[in-house]
Amino acid sequence: MIKDSIKEYIEKAKKLSASTKEEIENARIEFLGKKGVMNELFAQFKTVPNEERKEIGILLNELKTTVQEKIDSLKEAIAEKQESMKPKEDLTKPSNIVSLGSIHPLTTVRNEIIDIFSRIGYTVAEGPEIEDDWHVFSALNFPPEHPARDMQDTFFVENGRQDGNDVLLRTHTSSVQARTMEKKQPPIRIIAPGRVFRNEAISARAHCIFHQVEGLYIDKGVSFADLKQSLLYFVKEMFGEQTQIRLRPSYFPFTEPSAEMDISCTICQGEGCNICKHTGWLEILGCGMVDPNVLEANGIDSKVYSGFAFGMGVERIAMLKYDVKDLRQYFENDIRFLNQFSSTF
Ligand code: DAH
Repeated sequence: MIKDSIKEYIEKAKKLSASTKEEIENARIEFLGKKGVMNELFAQFKTVPNEERKEIGILLNELKTTVQEKIDSLKEAIAEKQESMKPKEDLTKPSNIVSLGSIHPLTTVRNEIIDIFSRIGYTVAEGPEIEDDWHVFSALNFPPEHPARDMQDTFFVENGRQDGNDVLLRTHTSSVQARTMEKKQPPIRIIAPGRVFRNEAISARAHCIFHQVEGLYIDKGVSFADLKQSLLYFVKEMFGEQTQIRLRPSYFPFTEPSAEMDISCTICQGEGCNICKHTGWLEILGCGMVDPNVLEANGIDSKVYSGFAFGMGVERIAMLKYDVKDLRQYFENDIRFLNQFSSTF
């Protein structure tokens, strides 16, 4: 009976299995090929009596769709299997390039300053950023109510006053001089890098937070000639052998005599240009012989010991070294600015 054989074929089609393309193709030919089962059955269908045609027709259609769906799903299964057997990513390939950060120019310059002075025997000293009036001013010979205190606009900590001693953000790293002297007798040879704070409007040339490096050398028989030679050594290491220095008389409460030091312009080598305002010189630091009052206030015998001190702005030095025109760029974290220093790694 045609009806029974169609039903058998439907069952057979449902159970079809194949693991290769060829096997699927063979199954397709067996059922749907020219001389296949379907055509054979359609030929027989012609002889089916009228009253059975409808039922058999439906069964024939069911067989056809069953076969077609089975073949499609077998094909899909093989395609998936092939996909999963494809060779995995090449694990020996270099990974995506991870861009490393760069060291901030201020850090680079600070480290370079530390490096240079450490070669002539200086060690690094530290002090707190939240300081008191004594270490920032009084111990450094700033008399009370003296206008010298106005030289630096100070951020005071509200209600921070203790025993008549104001608490404030240090305005300079010179406070580390006092911190060091109170702990240790000479010989003292330190540099103190750190952050300082001043109540200043932010502009291309000024900021309320910036960085300094302080230097202090106290021993028996330290002279102004030692100061000059140490600074000359520093400048030649930092800016190159050809760089000249010049000292101009100045005033700081904690040094006597005091001076400001200029270096020959790093851009025009002293010829005169916009950067040095056509003077050929650029100011880079303040310095002087430690005032005997400072030694005495900090428990060091000024009849036995003498010393020199200096203080410089890290931003200023980095500006000269890298030709940075606007101080604010150091603090904005603009990746386009910072990326320019990646070679300094
Ligand atoms: N503390 C000074 C300032 O912030 C810089 C300075 C000048 C430091 C002379 C010194 C020095 O040690 O001797 O402007």
